[in-house]
This record gives sequence, C-alpha cells and structure tokens, in this order.
Amino acid sequence: MAKINRGDVVECVIDDLAFGGAGVARVDGYVLFVKGAAPGDRVRAHIYKRKSKHAEAEVVEVLEPSPDRIAPPCPLFGRCGGCSWQHVRYERQLVAKQSIVEQSFAHIAGVKDVTVETIAPSPLPLRYRNKMDLTFGYSPEGERTLGFHRPRDYKRILDVDSCLLQPEILDQAVAVCRQFMTDHNLSCYDPVTHEGLLRHLMFRYAACSGEFLTVLASATPETGKEPPYAELAARLREACPGMRGFTWGANDAVADVMRIETILYEEGEGWIEEHLGDVRFRVSAQSFFQVNTLAARLLYDAIAHGLDLDDSQVVLDAYCGTGSIGIYCAAHAQSVWGLELVKEAVWDARSNAALNELTNCRFIAGDIRQTLTLALDGMGRRPDCVIVDPPRGGMHKKALGGLLAMGAPAFVYVSCNPTTLARDVGAILEEGYQLKRVQPVDLFPQTYHVETVCHFQQAP
Ligand SMILES: C[S@@+](CC[C@H](N)C(=O)[O-])C[C@H]1O[C@@H](n2cnc3c(N)ncnc32)[C@H](O)[C@@H]1O
Repeated sequence: MAKINRGDVVECVIDDLAFGGAGVARVDGYVLFVKGAAPGDRVRAHIYKRKSKHAEAEVVEVLEPSPDRIAPPCPLFGRCGGCSWQHVRYERQLVAKQSIVEQSFAHIAGVKDVTVETIAPSPLPLRYRNKMDLTFGYSPEGERTLGFHRPRDYKRILDVDSCLLQPEILDQAVAVCRQFMTDHNLSCYDPVTHEGLLRHLMFRYAACSGEFLTVLASATPETGKEPPYAELAARLREACPGMRGFTWGANDAVADVMRIETILYEEGEGWIEEHLGDVRFRVSAQSFFQVNTLAARLLYDAIAHGLDLDDSQVVLDAYCGTGSIGIYCAAHAQSVWGLELVKEAVWDARSNAALNELTNCRFIAGDIRQTLTLALDGMGRRPDCVIVDPPRGGMHKKALGGLLAMGAPAFVYVSCNPTTLARDVGAILEEGYQLKRVQPVDLFPQTYHVETVCHFQQAP
C-alpha cells in the first residue's frame, strides 16, 4: 500500500470518472478521487483528505493532457458549482456515465450478468435546461451579483452573465434583471445577516415554443419603498419575446431556498405549455418537470417501449410528480393510477390528463406508504405494471415492499441516482423479479448525473 498523506502532491494517471464528478486514479492499489481531472490525463494532484481506503485530491498541474480533455466552453468553469465535466469531450462523458451505471450494478447490486444498453445521449449537450434557479447576493469584494453559489460557499454568489446550460433568451432575461437591480440601487439578501431585499430568480422555459415564466423572490419591502415591480415585467417583455408570465413574491423565511410566501405582483399566466411528442403538459413555476425536455422524451420512450402496453392493462405510476410518465403511457393502457406526495403536483397531473382528453387517469395525493392501499382499492385488482420514479435518495423500504407485494407482472424503476437504484435492485430481485433491460439516458450533460430505466418482469 502506498504511503499517501494529507498535504502530499502525487503524480498519477486518471483511469475513469466517478459518480460525484472526480477522476479516479490508483497509486499502488490506493484509490484517489481527483477533482478537475479528465480520464487519460497524467497529473500532479494535491491530497486534501485521506481516508482508510481512498483519498480525495485536486489537480495541481496537468503534466500530459488526455485526448478527451477539451477547453471548457464556459469561462466560469471551475469557479461555478454547476458543471463538473465541461473539460471532458461529451462522447467521453457518455462513456463515463455508462460505466458508472455498469459499476453500480456490479459492485453495489452484485448483479454481474446484466447488459446495460448503450446510453441515449441528450439531443443538446449545452443549453438544454428548461428550469433555472439563480441567487442574488454579493461577491467577496462586496459587489452585488446575480448567479450561482460558488462551490462549497453558501455565502457568496458568482456573477453569471451567460450560463451555457440555459437557453440564450434566459441569458438576456438575467441581464435585464441585473440592470434593473443596478438602476434602482436595490440591495441583495445576505444569508448571514438576513438583511437585504432581492433573494432568488427562477425561470421555467418551454422548449416546444420558447415561452417562459419569470419568478422573482425578495424579502417583503418596507411600505412606501416597494420597487417598481411592473417596470421589471415591462422591461423583460420588451427585451425577451416569449415571456408568458411574471411573478414577484415575498419570502421572509430564513432558509436560503427559492419559495414564495405571498405574491407582491403578478401578470400573465402562471404556467407554460410543454410538449413531449403529441402529449401536452401544463407546467407551473414550482411543479416538478424533467429539466431537459428533449431528453425527457427519450427517457419516457425508453419506459414505454419496454412495456408493450395494451388497453386491458392497469398502470400504477408511483412518485408521479405532475403525472407525466403515466399520462405519456395512458393512451395505450386501460387505466393509469398516479401517486404523489405534493398536492399541487397532483392538481397539475389532473389538469394535464384533462388537457390530453384522457379520462382513464386517476391521481392520489399523499405519502406513498399511505396511498398505496387507496390505489389498490380503487383499481379493484392488482396492477399489470408498476412504474416507480423516486427522488435521488431512492425508495423507503416500506414503500418498495408494499409496491412489490402487489405482484404486478412488470415493474419499472426509473432513477436519477445509480447508487440508490443499485441498492433497491437487490430487494426487487429477491421478490422473484428478473431484470430484463437497463437503459441509461443522459438528461444532464456536463454533470455526472444520469437517469436509468430498469425493466423487471415477474419470473414465470
Ligand atoms: C424524480 S420526481 C418524479 C416525477 C415524475 N415521475 C416525472 O417524471 O416528472 C419524484 C417525485 O416523488 C415525489 N415524492 C417524494 N417522496 C414521496 C412519497 N413519500 N410519496 C409520494 N411521492 C413522493 C416528489 O414530490 C417528486 O414529485
């Protein structure tokens, strides 16, 4: 075992990229996770954390760059916490994601004989995001900024003129908001002192039409010192064609997250319409929708193609959000039952079913551990197919157990976290399901995140 200590600088060759974003190197059998490295690089790396089986390091010098290393297209790369892989060719990012899914199945789930299908690339490697969350704040020099948190710094905000993950029209909208802040000398909220006005800015964009929503959250202004809300809306409408709705709301909570407690000003609509193929969705500012619309269609096709639905089949869409997976499949099924914790998302799901003239969809709000039995009662029989799409942390044991106990012939697990997916796969196989197909889909280029669709079937 190599003698590696915190503070050392070691020379190493990077073999691969890990979930979490770092490059992976081995020095005498000891694993190093090296931030800022590309696979194939020979680097000098500074060890800043040492554990018994691995150490964490960052690149000090690239001695020999990998053929897969490219100049990051964004000048803020490395200073902004948003992207971790812009310095790696997109094709090589896809290879790394494929390998992350394969390794998770082999090493966490202990499933060695599975073939992972070739990852489906995102149609757009840049400018693919339909939702952006920016924060108002201050630079270390005390200047007002509008952008993203610096990595590992919750206090200071990096000014971002152009984000290459968002559509260009939103770069223009950010510029309008920044100019408005300067022209009216508005203060930004400080998460340490809890003083200041402007807090968060959010956009929701429809890839099918180019329309978007703007939502700005500030502290409640003093009476008589309200900023001219309507002027900002007018400036945005003039400079950025396609703005469908504008909301300025108050948020006086301590937690530094985007939310609106009371509406101070609004105009236009509170939603945009998005299309996935022939299926239409109304998406309101706060509701969940996959952030990469074009790749979401590939994801939903991967789910539907493996199912072979017909109009005798009952589908249970668990963790359904605004109902999008179930609604996407509903025209080919007898009925769809959606279960979702957030009641506003369930309202969206119901109106989305109506928008598509579907009368065979039911949605139940509540924690899945409670709503499962309600759904079973409503169906009057076991579902033919269960689809689950849980949050990053994976599924609660009780929820997974309850869904597996329904005994649906087909079970589909959609996951944005290969490690929690691999953990839950073990429990699914133990219940007598066979793993039929694993399809990764890239919804998050330039980051280490990846979606995976797994189709299981009850063993005969
Ligand atoms: C990854 S999203 C999936 C959304 C949807 N399937 C889609 O493709 O747009 C996970 C959803 O699970 C919901 N959720 C989280 N915990 C839940 C629980 N205990 N019971 C029901 N739904 C839950 C979240 O509110 C969120 O909408």
